[in-house]
This record gives sequence, C-alpha cells and structure tokens, in this order.
Amino acid sequence: MMRIRSFARRCSSRAAPLSHPASSARTAGGAAAAAAAAVAAAYALSDADADSSLIAATFGSGGAAPTGPKDRVFTLEEFRNAPEGRVWVSLNGGVYDVTNFMDAHPGGPYRVMMVSGQDLSAFWAVYHEIHDRPHIRSLLEDYRIGNLSAADAKMIKDESAFDDAYVNDPVRPRAAEMRVVSRAPWNMEPPPRKLVETFFTPNDLFFVRNHNPVPDIDADEWRLEIEANEDAGTKDLVLTLADLKTKFPRHEVVCALQCAGNRQEDFVTPDRPLYVAPHWRAGAIGCAKWVGVKVRDIFRAAGLDVDGMALGNTSHPKVKIVNFIGEDADETGTPYAGVIPIEKVVNPFGDAILAYEMNGETLPRDHGYPVRLLAPGHAGCRNVKWVTKIMLTEAPSELDSGSKLDRHFAPDVTFKGHIREGEDRLRLDQGPVIQTLPVQSVIAEPPDRSTISGQLDYVTVEGVAWSGGGRGICRVEVSVDGGETFEAAELFSGPLGIPRSQEEWVAQRPNGRAKNPDSANCAMRSNPQSGMGNHWAWQQFQQQVPIPADAKAKLAKGEKVEMEIVTNAIDGDFNSQPEKMTSTWNVLGICCNHQARIKVTLDPNKAPSEVVVAPKMPAGGDYVWPVENPGHQYRVPDEVACGPAGFKNTSAA
Ligand code: MTE
Repeated sequence: MMRIRSFARRCSSRAAPLSHPASSARTAGGAAAAAAAAVAAAYALSDADADSSLIAATFGSGGAAPTGPKDRVFTLEEFRNAPEGRVWVSLNGGVYDVTNFMDAHPGGPYRVMMVSGQDLSAFWAVYHEIHDRPHIRSLLEDYRIGNLSAADAKMIKDESAFDDAYVNDPVRPRAAEMRVVSRAPWNMEPPPRKLVETFFTPNDLFFVRNHNPVPDIDADEWRLEIEANEDAGTKDLVLTLADLKTKFPRHEVVCALQCAGNRQEDFVTPDRPLYVAPHWRAGAIGCAKWVGVKVRDIFRAAGLDVDGMALGNTSHPKVKIVNFIGEDADETGTPYAGVIPIEKVVNPFGDAILAYEMNGETLPRDHGYPVRLLAPGHAGCRNVKWVTKIMLTEAPSELDSGSKLDRHFAPDVTFKGHIREGEDRLRLDQGPVIQTLPVQSVIAEPPDRSTISGQLDYVTVEGVAWSGGGRGICRVEVSVDGGETFEAAELFSGPLGIPRSQEEWVAQRPNGRAKNPDSANCAMRSNPQSGMGNHWAWQQFQQQVPIPADAKAKLAKGEKVEMEIVTNAIDGDFNSQPEKMTSTWNVLGICCNHQARIKVTLDPNKAPSEVVVAPKMPAGGDYVWPVENPGHQYRVPDEVACGPAGFKNTSAA
C-alpha cells in the first residue's frame, strides 16, 4: 500500500531554514516532502530570485482551469503517470488536473504537490473542515479532466493514506465550551459572551489559531538562535530558556491579540464565498497579561545599537525586517514564520517581547510554549509561536505567512477571477500585506439570535473593542434600531486602570447606567485620544440602551419584537468601523471590521431573571446554502460530527 507519511517536526534544537522545502535538505527524509520536491523541481520553482519566488509562492503563475472534455475515462496507469510537470489527483472517481491551482492554494503549493497521483479523500479526512465545503467541491470541479472506472476509483482510494500528525496535539480542557472551527489544524474560539466574563481571557478559553500540528518542545533542549547580520554588525547568539529568564529584564505587557481573520465568516455570501480558513465568527480575539523579554534587549546583546537606531543616530539601510521562525511545520517541512518591521523592535515603547508566561502561568503549548513573539498592536499572525530563530533582513523571508495569506485586496478582487489566475490578473502592489489591524468591536451580550426579556425599559449590550497599532479605543457607540441612532456606551478597563485581578475587575464594572469613569485617572500611560499609540489592551463596554417607543408599544400589546443591535467603536485616531461588510469585503477575509450587528427577539412574556440561551453557532465549514441573509450567514445546526475518528464538535454556543 502506498503510504504518504506526514511528519510534524518534533522538538529539535536545530534552527529552521529559510529556504522552502523543495530546496531544503532538512525535509528530504519525508516522502511527502520528496514528492513535493520532485514536482517543484519539475516546475523549476527555484529560490534564485527572491522577488519572483515570493510572487510565485504567493499567487504564482496561476492560470486558468483546464478546458476540454471532462468525460474521458483514465486507466489507473494513466492517472498515476500524469504528463511531466502536471499534478493530477482523484476524488470520488473524478480525475482533476490541479496544476494551475497549486499556487493559489491557501495552504501553499507544496501541500498540493504531495497529493500528486493520489486520492484526496485520505487528506480531506484529516483536513475535513477546511476543505469539505460545497463551494470548494464546486471549485474542484473546474479542474476535472475525466474519471476513473468505479473499480480503479476504489483501488486508488484504498491505496492512498495519510497519517494524522495532529494526534499529539495538547489536550484542550475546555474545548467543549468553545467553537472548534477545525480540528486539523486546531482552531478554536470562545463564544463571544465569554469575552466579557473576565477582563483577562483565561488561557484555556483564549482562541487558538494553529496552521500546523503543535510541536512538542522540551524546554531544556530548546534554543533560540539569533542569526548574525553583517550589515547590522550583530553576531550569532544562541540562548536557552534559562538565559532568557535570568540574563534579561523581565517585562510584562497587558495586550489583546486578534486574528487578522476574526469575523471572516460574515464575509461569506453565496455569490462570494471565501476560500480561506479558519471559519471564525467573532471570538478570535482575547486579552492577556504576558511576561517575557524585550526583543530589543536580545538584539542589544547580539550587538545591535538599538538605542542609536531608536534615536535615529545609527542607521542600517539593509536592516528593515525582523523574521521570526516557528518550530511548527507542515507535512512538507515548511515552518510557520512571520515578520515585523525593525522599528517595532527597536522602539523602547514598542513592548515587543518574547513571552514565556501568559496570565501568570507558563505559556501553554497551544499558545507557543516555551516562547512566542508578542508584538503588541500587530495582527495575530505576526505573533509567531514556538520561536526558534530570529533573523534581520532587508525584505521579508519567503516563509513569511503574511505575504501569502494576509494581503488586503480591494473588494472587486475575487478568488476565481483573480487569485486563481495568478500574476496576470493580480496586482500585488494593490494588495498590501497587513501588520496592524483596524478598529474593531464585538458584541458579547446578548448572544446573536437569542430571545431576551421584553419586560425592561432597556436592553443591556456588552462587548469588547480594540484597535491595532496601539491606537486604543476612545468611544463605543451602541444602537438598538439597526444603526439608525447610536449612543455612547460605558467603557471600562476601569477608573483604576487595567484590573490586576478578577475581584478588582468586578469591582470596577459600571453598575447600570453609571457615569463613564474618568479615563484621565486610568493607569494606562495616556488616554487613547492622546495619540501615543501604546494602548495594547482591549476595552470592554456595557450600555443599557432604552427600548424605542414603537417597540415598547408592541411589547405592551404582548407582541414579540425583532431588534437589530449594532456597535461602532471609535479608536484614539478617531477612525470608526465601516457601516457595511460589503465595503470592506476582501478575498482573503482579513481586517473584517464592519460594525458588529446581531439580531435578538424581545419576548414580553420572558422574565428578566430567565436565563438567556445562546443559540449554537454553525460549526467550522458547516454553513449551508442558501444563506438566510447575505453578510450574516447563519444556521443553527444540530450537533455535528466534525473530523475523523468520531471527533464531535458540539459547536458551543
Ligand atoms: N505561530 C506559529 N508558529 N504557528 C502558527 O500557526 N498562527 C498565527 C500566530 N502565530 C501561528 C503562529 C496566527 S494566524 C495567530 S492569529 C496567532 O498566532 C494566534 O495566537 P494564539 O493561538 O496564541 O491565540
């Protein structure tokens, strides 16, 4: 039986390479990598030209789907020996030439290459939630070139196998309370109401965004390598975890982290589905207390004149980017990596740290144990977990995940019409790579689609708001009439500043329509509107908004009332959220910061003391067509089986 083994890289003190797997000796031991390398060689996807390989690795040469008859029947022999340089796969008896799709594959071309000559079912069994969606099956049909006989289809399906590299992932003790959007890789988000139960999101409830299996790192063996850079005058430096903890000052940062794709399922409409994962609702954001070592202190130890650079007295024109390489890698050996600009690191107020503690605990495995980058104000994708190597360069390394997945295109750019077509149709200069994220708000209470009491004079709305780049939040406005009229909500990280404990946080929460605490007393360094750009934490908000007169009249007659609640956050630079999803829609589903919008039903017969039940959210990849309301695709499924081996995603409410 032909067997393709996935090989999640286990702990290794070796530093990750910069080259992609097709040219990497390190990955040569894996059959999948070998297959990928062979096909890559056939395609001459060389690293020689960094710019063109970045473009190729981003959206590549692309090309249209094959045309021609789709009813030809191939023999197994023909299928297995596809013409040189072509990548053919099968699924349910169909034969697909996916060569022209490889570079558009959000998971990278090598993951397509390694499936060459095999049946997709074994791979999709592992990567079930992120692939097996109606529009992705329909996309695959564009590449159909024929069929196998029923007997051959069965044979190739039985032959193809794929080890599940995710079986050694950590135990997630509170997964049942979460919305698990994919098991492989593990991606989970808390239901929004959890975001306001505490100020610091508990570690087990903090969203997890993984691209690969979680590495199992032995902290004693772990090494951090800082690569020497001639232009910067830095030397090689290798540090242990003990070095970090004992040789550098300990630095604490209270900081929110948000995935660039938070709320991206709002972008999914029948005419423009997203072809990227994970399928976040609104919970891919959290706030924690992080402790670690300033990256600038580490670079100082490596010989970089960080103070001179920060003051503008020293300049290194060829040193623009700091690359962070993670220990986790995909089946082809490609590690996760991300970049931030050098300015963020040398800025003494930038607070970029290598964190080893989260909320007073050892950094959990899912969040990067033993050490992750925390670049406050920057998109989640930049905050590389399981860091093993740091390098200074002039341009982002080709491993940088953001260069591929975090480009912000105009709303007219589509997956089928542009990205899949490659360079000819895609202006990369018009799709800049994000670093920081725009102003955001999330409604946590009441839950979307819930039924709440209609016996009070007001509706209590709670949530969280945050803005990237340290801009902070200076106001959140709430509407209960679908966005016709707004009023300011109470903001609180509290009059005493950011709370240190849950008790302090509870004591600070505004009671009812309490006066907004004087933010000048806030222990933050400055008010958001001072423009200092160092407000890393989120703000939580609460407002009791009066029920409009017409709705009250209906309730008085015993009728139920449908209400649309909208929130709009305004950051310290007085940016506010776009009113509609359509104006901010983009094909890679990032920076989804349209005003938050939920629907609730007010029931005059429901007592205020009655528990409000949060309806189940759709499981990852489970949404169903046609959607009820474009921009708010929502279905409430029963419990759904999700992933292999009977894994159950209860799709927590
Ligand atoms: N770092 C590594 N090594 N591997 C990853 O998959 N995911 C990134 C980032 N760092 C990722 C990573 C993304 S996209 C996000 S949003 C954040 O980690 C999520 O951090 P969390 O899982 O701790 O919440």
